[in-house]
Amino acid sequence: MEINFPLGFLWGAATSSHQVEGGNINDWSQWEKNNAERLASEAKNKWQSWQQEKFPAMFELQNYISSQACDHYNRWQEDFDMAKSLGHNAHRFSLEWSRIEPKKGEFDQAAIDHYSQMISGLGKRGMEPFVTINHFSLPQWFANMGGWESQEAVLCFGKFVDHLAKTLGHQITFWLTLNEPWIYIVNSYWRGVWPPQKRSWWRCLRVYKNLFNAHKTAYNIIKSYHPEAQVGLAENNVYFEGWLSGPAHWLVNRQFLSLSGQRLDFIGVNYYFHNKIKGFNFRKNDNHQVSDLGWELYPKGLFYVLRRLKKYRKPIYITEGGLADARDLQRANFIKSQLFYISEALAEGVDVRGYFYWSLLDNFEWDKGFWPRFGLAEIDYKTQERKIRSSAWEYAKICKENKLII
Ligand code: FCB
Repeated sequence: MEINFPLGFLWGAATSSHQVEGGNINDWSQWEKNNAERLASEAKNKWQSWQQEKFPAMFELQNYISSQACDHYNRWQEDFDMAKSLGHNAHRFSLEWSRIEPKKGEFDQAAIDHYSQMISGLGKRGMEPFVTINHFSLPQWFANMGGWESQEAVLCFGKFVDHLAKTLGHQITFWLTLNEPWIYIVNSYWRGVWPPQKRSWWRCLRVYKNLFNAHKTAYNIIKSYHPEAQVGLAENNVYFEGWLSGPAHWLVNRQFLSLSGQRLDFIGVNYYFHNKIKGFNFRKNDNHQVSDLGWELYPKGLFYVLRRLKKYRKPIYITEGGLADARDLQRANFIKSQLFYISEALAEGVDVRGYFYWSLLDNFEWDKGFWPRFGLAEIDYKTQERKIRSSAWEYAKICKENKLII
């Protein structure tokens, strides 16, 4: 079967600053140093024995310290050349706030110049930039102030966005204000496994309100300078099945989008999870296929997620979809089935306009560290050598031909 994608469909991969750049000094880099030992010792209880055997790096302290990561801050040209050779015509990445505003109110022109060069570097290679303003990591001064809990948070973020709109805005069409605000709240303030590890439902509400206002503020600022800009946000979408699926769906996938109302030019969908709720088991996996992280592989869920988004009548970009698969055994089929289900959604009239595989490179997977391997390219963290995985070439063929053959 041959499936043609709409003309102008965007094909690419995604990264985020803290996960790939290396050398960042922000709330995460501090937290990593304080928590690496604990995380390495907790691995024994956290992961199943097949995972422990396959990935002994999870017991090493270094696994949990981002350090030089993929050194993408210095090697972005090489990495963008690689993306180009893989037929990508778009690329999603994020700006590192701690580099651009290392001290409150003081902006670093060299960092702005750096990102400006990256953006024009994408243009020169024929790739459309999708720029995320904040992908979880925060400047230390902002974290010290109380982070997203602070009463000043939205104001500070607004000033940052204002600076971006003024300095980089003329180069950017597609902006994502925030990445997965809901996941951030759950991990940092509900489960308390990410910095600042402050568990309380009261804090969750406060952070929710601030993130929501941060999105609105950023939207208004960017549009005031660049009315033609396309501003959206990336939300983690879970496909829920079972008796509690209605409320779960609304709570996890819908509220932020619905409340954002008119302040969204497009929807960014990150899709990883299928939660089949049986009794009080929220993660029943009948299909038994999992990634290296033990996350269920259920590409069809993307179809259901997309179908439910149709009612918003907005363009949709899949801003993340991917899996940890160190041996590259499942990746090619997984990508192809995700694309097949996107084509099914297109056939039902859902306005999907692009797909960004997570991720271009193996990278630093937050509190899990380096062992989960999501990349189209494998990284040898000792030498920084990049090796393109064979699934990346299969994806490249689809990107280049704008067509999926299955
Ligand atoms: C998403 C995050 C991204 C990456 C993938 C695996 O939730 O946005 O940074 O960690 O998961």
